[in-house]
Amino acid sequence: MNVLIVFAHPEPRSLSAALRDVAVAELTAAGHAVQVSDLYAMRFKAEVDRDDFPQLAPEGRLKVPGASKAGFAARGLTADVVAEQDKLLWADVLILQFPLWWFTMPAILKGWVDRVFAYGFAYGVGEHSEARWGDRYGEGVFAGRRAMVITTTGGWQEHYSPRGVNGPIDDLLFPINHGILFYPGYDVLPAYVVHRADRLDAAGFDAAAAGLRERMRTIATTPPIRFRRQNGGDYLIPTCELRPEIGMAGAHGFALHVSDVASDDGLTRPAA
Ligand SMILES: Cc1cc2nc3c(=O)[nH]c(=O)nc-3n(C[C@H](O)[C@H](O)[C@H](O)COP(=O)(O)O)c2cc1C
Repeated sequence: MNVLIVFAHPEPRSLSAALRDVAVAELTAAGHAVQVSDLYAMRFKAEVDRDDFPQLAPEGRLKVPGASKAGFAARGLTADVVAEQDKLLWADVLILQFPLWWFTMPAILKGWVDRVFAYGFAYGVGEHSEARWGDRYGEGVFAGRRAMVITTTGGWQEHYSPRGVNGPIDDLLFPINHGILFYPGYDVLPAYVVHRADRLDAAGFDAAAAGLRERMRTIATTPPIRFRRQNGGDYLIPTCELRPEIGMAGAHGFALHVSDVASDDGLTRPAA
């Protein structure tokens, strides 16, 4: 398979970079082709602004979705963005790797998403009608491909447990896993998270690296998170609300959008 790692850390000697190298080595040894977009090393431009849309008339108001749509349709987006889109189309698997900063991804990676996931490419696609609400949440340009997050946290695993003060890690990563990756169609694998990363000793690193190698070895077979597909029957269209019968088993919040034994009511439709 072709694997793209989008990597966001400013320091080549960081733990994150060491884990990235472990992942690349394991994937390569298994025969996968790997590309890395090292965003800091590339000095990837993080801000969306006028310069992203060379075709926009100088006097025109910048409305980003419209400019993104027109630019993408005309193959007029900037070369750095087009290069990343081409890598995404090459990749069977996308890995986003970053240290958890303020409970989410570093700004440079968010900017990569903002700029690369263009209108007409990653969003705003498909039929919008009384029967369907676009190709999203399980459908879209990346349907049939896999994606996952690799991240490191300063905090303890317990701090991110279901009753931990930071909030459950699955909730914190939901906007990334569901909102960024599942939205344009990826099957999203559970994140690989290394906790207490600032205090990792040699034994801790060895354990973290071993776990990561195992996840890389199983990247083609690890079952994805069972996010409910928007157009799979669980949601009312066009409001995109879950059918009232769903979630009565006690799930609430983000967990409602995952079909599993605990939250399921037997209504979840199998993937098309
Ligand atoms: C700006 C910034 C914000 C951070 N925010 C968090 C956070 O929200 N939660 C957390 O557990 N650790 C946080 N940390 C700690 C980092 O996650 C930790 O330093 C990193 O994962 C260690 O990996 P590295 O050595 O590759 O940088 C933060 C660190 C920085 C610099």
